[in-house]
Amino acid sequence: MRRVALVTGGNRGIGLAACRGLAKAGLDVVLGSREAEAGEEAARSLRDTGVHVRVLGIDVAKPLAIEHALHFLKAEKIHVDVLVNNAGVYSQEPALGDSDAAFREAWDVHVMGPLALCRALIPGMKKAKYGRVVNVSSGYGAFSEAMQGPPAYAVTKAALNALTVKIAAEAGTHVKVNSMCPGWVQTRMGGTGAPLTPEQGADTIVWLATLPEDGPTGGFYRERQVTAW
Ligand SMILES: NC(=O)c1ccc[n+]([C@@H]2O[C@H](COP(=O)([O-])OP(=O)(O)OC[C@H]3O[C@@H](n4cnc5c(N)ncnc54)[C@H](OP(=O)(O)O)[C@@H]3O)[C@@H](O)[C@H]2O)c1
Repeated sequence: MRRVALVTGGNRGIGLAACRGLAKAGLDVVLGSREAEAGEEAARSLRDTGVHVRVLGIDVAKPLAIEHALHFLKAEKIHVDVLVNNAGVYSQEPALGDSDAAFREAWDVHVMGPLALCRALIPGMKKAKYGRVVNVSSGYGAFSEAMQGPPAYAVTKAALNALTVKIAAEAGTHVKVNSMCPGWVQTRMGGTGAPLTPEQGADTIVWLATLPEDGPTGGFYRERQVTAW
């Protein structure tokens, strides 16, 4: 039976590379994209290389959009075995600036969206006695690395890591929930000076998404190795 993986922010960067990697690993891929046209364009680029994907419109910062996406999955009888919470935003706003916008957006994209998707999809995974959740976090939100990211980014990625621990504890033994850092990757977010390709950045995502039954849960990984929170 082919497993189904949903990747948020799958239309470009590391998310798109994760879609390609998961498809190569034998999974059916649902490419999440907040812009339908961008999603279709990304899906076309994958189909051109022989990869079969479906596109799901999903803006993870909007509860109603998440609800619509979940209705679509249900209507299409798509059971999600693997959830990759990849969508991310990066703002340089200082913590003591005078606008809440950057914090609120980062909180919605990095914490509330992943939480809503976990709440909706993990019960089905538990019932099926199989599930993998990969939260794409960042060393920029690691206390062990001095929280080097800009405030809204670092704080919400730290919160995503904390959420990973709490959700893993509730998800049961058959559902593995892990955080990872892709490293510094050449994407719109990472810039052209980054040393890693999106495929290299996505490698640990694919590894965590396909962990065996005795694989780890509740951890933080980089380059397939445990890394400190
Ligand atoms: N690049 C790095 O060096 C690096 C390092 C550490 C961690 N990461 C993490 O890796 C993940 C992917 O980053 P990337 O480098 O591939 O960045 P990217 O190229 O900027 O892509 C970000 C993706 O997130 C999507 N997104 C943003 N807000 C969204 C929302 N509200 N709903 C749905 N999708 C949304 C974007 O969609 P649109 O196209 O619609 O904007 C895009 O698909 C992020 O979580 C990021 O924090 C990246």
